Amino acid sequence: MKVTVDEPRMMYELRQLASFTEPSTEPARAGETAVTRVVFTERDGEARAWLKELAEAAGLVIREDAVGNTFFRWEGSEPALAAVATGSHIDAIPNAGMYDGTVGVLGGLEAMRGLQAAGFKPRRSVELILFTSEEPTRFGLGCLGSRLMSGGLSVEAAQRLVDEADMSLDEARSAAGYSGGLGEVELAKGVYAGFVELHIEQGPRLEREGVPIGVVTHIAAPASGAIVVEGEGGHAGALLMPVRHDALAAAAEVALAVERAALGTGVEDTVATVGRCEVFPGAVNSVPSRVRLSLDVRDVELARRDAVLASIVSSCEEIAQRRGVKITPAMANADEPASCAAAVVDAVEAACVEAGVASIRMVSRAYHDALFMARLCPVGMIFVPCRGGVSHRPDEHAEPGDLAAGVRVLAQTLATLSLGEAL
Ligand code: GLV
Ligand code: MN
Ligand code: MN
Repeated sequence: MKVTVDEPRMMYELRQLASFTEPSTEPARAGETAVTRVVFTERDGEARAWLKELAEAAGLVIREDAVGNTFFRWEGSEPALAAVATGSHIDAIPNAGMYDGTVGVLGGLEAMRGLQAAGFKPRRSVELILFTSEEPTRFGLGCLGSRLMSGGLSVEAAQRLVDEADMSLDEARSAAGYSGGLGEVELAKGVYAGFVELHIEQGPRLEREGVPIGVVTHIAAPASGAIVVEGEGGHAGALLMPVRHDALAAAAEVALAVERAALGTGVEDTVATVGRCEVFPGAVNSVPSRVRLSLDVRDVELARRDAVLASIVSSCEEIAQRRGVKITPAMANADEPASCAAAVVDAVEAACVEAGVASIRMVSRAYHDALFMARLCPVGMIFVPCRGGVSHRPDEHAEPGDLAAGVRVLAQTLATLSLGEAL
């Protein structure tokens, strides 16, 4: 089947979606598009409303769940069969780019429109899913929507989530128009026959090897949380150095210990990041009494990731004792890695052959909603290159031709899975 991708329309829509953003706090640089779109903010609501219009125009049936996961359904000729799904997220971390997640949502829509235009008739229904809050920006937990959908987060734990302004998830979602019980978000295994997510690679390999498509085989195991350091504050002039218990100085040692723990495995698959540092009271002439660091640790191997976490905890104990401060690490999540299903990987590779594009198999170091969808059904992922491997930055860039190739491969894969038997 020949699926034609309307490349100008897809690029136009990606730029339109990027226009739903908070103003950048950084000076604009030529050729860059800074996007900040946090879940359940006004901008998020505007982007969702605009997307729903596009989906309606494509004849898709829309359903929203209690956390805002949105399902756009193209009914198959045998609607009682488990559906085939694709999708991703549209929330964007502060000062991000315009491709992360959005390519999987608008690319998914474009794939469905391409299949419609080619006269394809799905047997299993085909669904595009917009997952709520894949990014941890607001509630400190990534893949919120897919986590709840797959039973990876209990309703009680979800109800304890609060943002920085102490607004609970329940308050935020209901202010955004999503009421209903969170318990209804979880889906049964068997609802989907398969799930395929299109995403930019967010790493340099495809570009370096000059290959347009990455077929993902595994998704690395992410863990994240916070480390709170409590010391003793005081007057920056009067409190003498030998008696200080400076929380920020101790936190600086913790950040270096985090880096050392990841480097210590000697394996490039291990990564650890302290991306945030909040200092209290945050005054020029006051010794910091409390610091909150964020922590993000990942590895393709669960045991090695957990060993790094254990080593960070033991460094915290040592630093706390030596400096006379209290250090409390607390993880919000420590997820298992996921494997893509052989049948979906094979379908994606066959689609690459059909679409006439080269592909290589690869691991995803970033997490994606597919990590949690793998708990519900067989999954696969299609990666397209991004310039310099750059992501989570305004200079994130993907070539229109590569995006179109990704959409063609996605469309063909969805068609195969829609016509096929259970995987
Ligand atoms: C997703 O945005 C990730 O941080 O991997
Ligand atoms: Mn991201
Ligand atoms: Mn993403």
